[in-house]
Amino acid sequence: MSAPALARTKADLAAVRAGLDARGGPVVLVPTMGALHVGHRTLLRAARTLAGPDGSVIVSIFVNPLQFGPSEDLDRYPRTLEEDLTMCAAAGVDLVFAPSAAHMYPGGRPEVTVEPGPAGRVFEGQFRPGFFDGVLTVVLKLLHLTRPAVVVFGAKDAQQLALVRRLVTDTDLEIAVEAVPTVRDADGLATSSRNRYLSAAERTVALALPRALRAGQARAAGGATAVLSAAQEVLTAEPALAVDYVAVVDPGTFTAVRPPHAGPALLIAAARAGGTRLIDNVPVVLPAGLAEPAGTGPADAAREGRAQHAADH
Ligand code: PAJ
Repeated sequence: MSAPALARTKADLAAVRAGLDARGGPVVLVPTMGALHVGHRTLLRAARTLAGPDGSVIVSIFVNPLQFGPSEDLDRYPRTLEEDLTMCAAAGVDLVFAPSAAHMYPGGRPEVTVEPGPAGRVFEGQFRPGFFDGVLTVVLKLLHLTRPAVVVFGAKDAQQLALVRRLVTDTDLEIAVEAVPTVRDADGLATSSRNRYLSAAERTVALALPRALRAGQARAAGGATAVLSAAQEVLTAEPALAVDYVAVVDPGTFTAVRPPHAGPALLIAAARAGGTRLIDNVPVVLPAGLAEPAGTGPADAAREGRAQHAADH
């Protein structure tokens, strides 16, 4: 495999991008923050397939300061450009865009940013204020700069995926958003650039997260309440895991669902093992025909929404 072209500036990117249309096939973008692992590799391969023989794959590698809170890991976030380029070459990537923060944000924090709307204020948006504003702002910039026909995201970051779909729809970007299912290590932990922070003992603690999601998923036939209780039971049994939230939500709006809600939903959770924050989710298909539990008027529903957020705090 030949090495991809490496663009460090918008001008370099534009110069290479201009030649890609002549190849005739679609341009497919995979936005990343680098420190690429097997989860990312699955996205690169999916992008290569979507691009086809005449299309092109662009990967962006940019640790976006806008999406890190003041007490988060921006400075220690892993940066492994050489290894990333090797993986991109092996996956048949044509162009890597890896700008500096100063180049992407020459005036510092931009004054105009993307407001993610209600689905961006709950769950990850609640625990990481400003996170989705930062994500959607950089994604919009990357889409403008690379002008892809297709952009590829991982289902692991389900709320991010839902919000990107919303961004594309609400701003008429006319770009297809393709999702790739979550890639897991053999022990069940979803692969993540942050997993390298975990000690062996913390990793054992972290495994309660995918275990809880599997337990919940196995109870899908019992409806949203049964799914949530099964997941909570596993999480409670691992007190060393600090749970931020666990909930069953609508995959598009990220509002909590409850019986008699039927159809596709997501069991989502976020937790901290040691100093490392993990997020994960599994799809569940909830059956029709379940009754609403007794005593669940609108006031109770609001209370349960809060209870789901506060679970295991
Ligand atoms: P990053 O965490 O590097 O992830 C880049 C892409 O890889 C995202 O679409 C993410 O969902 C996907 N991904 C990561 N781990 C995965 C796994 N185990 N299985 C499947 N897909 C996985 O997400 C970001 O970067 C940033 O927020 C970004 C969108 C690049 C904006 O800065």
